Amino acid sequence: MILKIFIDPHPILHQKTAPVASADLPTAEFKKFIADMKETMRAKDGVGLAAPQVGQGVAVCVIHAKYARGEESDADLVLINPTWEKITRKKEFDDEGCLSLPGIFGKVKRYKNIRVRALDEKNQAIDFLANDFFARIIQHETDHLQGVLFTEKAKNIRQINEI
Ligand code: NI
Repeated sequence: MILKIFIDPHPILHQKTAPVASADLPTAEFKKFIADMKETMRAKDGVGLAAPQVGQGVAVCVIHAKYARGEESDADLVLINPTWEKITRKKEFDDEGCLSLPGIFGKVKRYKNIRVRALDEKNQAIDFLANDFFARIIQHETDHLQGVLFTEKAKNIRQINEI
């Protein structure tokens, strides 16, 4: 089921999410929510999607397989209760947009190389390195889980109206 995308301004986009309890992970309801998040991200042509963007204040995000694992994969990456740390000091400016801020773009400085820890949808602990655009998506999505939108960090913010 394709979920409704919450567009800014909306208070849920500015609230820190709650961690998912491990008891909730195996429930049918939670599995359906994860499947719906993946479907919604793909239907809306997103590279990632965070739970507050579909109105749920929980620490879950999904990242499109193409950016998480490469062109040959169709397994979208699910991150539950994710945390990350930088592993080098290198940062890079690049353009970002967001499904909750349609038509708005801006340049955001992000770490190029990070280490990520999370639970996956099978309740397994995962721990991996992410670089460049993949690292950027994770930083953007984990900001959503903290109630932070990219426009709070961006420079050169501009509105591009669709024709
Ligand atoms: Ni976003």
